[in-house]
Amino acid sequence: MKTIVFAHRGASKLAPENTMPAFELALEMGADGIETDVQLTKDQIPVLIHDENVRRTTDGTGFVQDYTFEEIKNLDAGSWFSEKFSGTTIPSLEEFLRWVKGKNLKINLEIKNNIIDYKDIETIIYDHLKTHNLTDRTVISSFNSKSIKHFSHLEESITTGFLTSQKMKDLIDYAKDQGANGLHIKYRLLSRSLIEHAHNHNLYVAVFTVNRPLQIKRCFHLKCDGIFTDVPNIAKQIQESV
Ligand code: G3P
Ligand code: CA
Repeated sequence: MKTIVFAHRGASKLAPENTMPAFELALEMGADGIETDVQLTKDQIPVLIHDENVRRTTDGTGFVQDYTFEEIKNLDAGSWFSEKFSGTTIPSLEEFLRWVKGKNLKINLEIKNNIIDYKDIETIIYDHLKTHNLTDRTVISSFNSKSIKHFSHLEESITTGFLTSQKMKDLIDYAKDQGANGLHIKYRLLSRSLIEHAHNHNLYVAVFTVNRPLQIKRCFHLKCDGIFTDVPNIAKQIQESV
């Protein structure tokens, strides 16, 4: 099967990560899917932002969980990247799902609860996906195995990927035990034997974050099931040429 090219936080090399302009650009560049990070505001609204703290990617300070949705919407999430994007806001999951619904794109929602344990984040996300009838083209991923387990119990048919950047002795058995359908691994963990081993155990393998042409090529060559890249335009060009 063809490797799925996910735009990592959208087309985040050329637009501010995890914003609607980055998602729109990813679509224009021909990405097969979009990866984005989900956290909860104080009033439990799922929003798309990578860090627990808003400092790096907005003009605000402090933690996502200490902002109400109305407050977080007042932050500028584009100017830090370029003045061209000034006035861009942090999208809610709802806003993203409404946009992605009519598009031919896969969705990867990463639950960012490895540092903050957001109460009920799994069921909140699941309810949104059900409402929009998007469970069948969504992959849920997390570094937190509790969330993978939780999701695989919520609905067996939803695809889940266990994220890891660490070498783990029993990675495949561990991921299977959590009910994961796949492994989302850091590029340095990639090897032909890991792919074969995972496939033999019915687990798919997706690799992050792959931006260098030679690394992208290697992922295609090894028949990875998915890659996460900040440069989906380059990845798609390479894919067409191999
Ligand atoms: O989902 C792959 C990748 O996004 C995980 O790492 O830190 O970019 O969220 P990070
Ligand atoms: Ca992520």
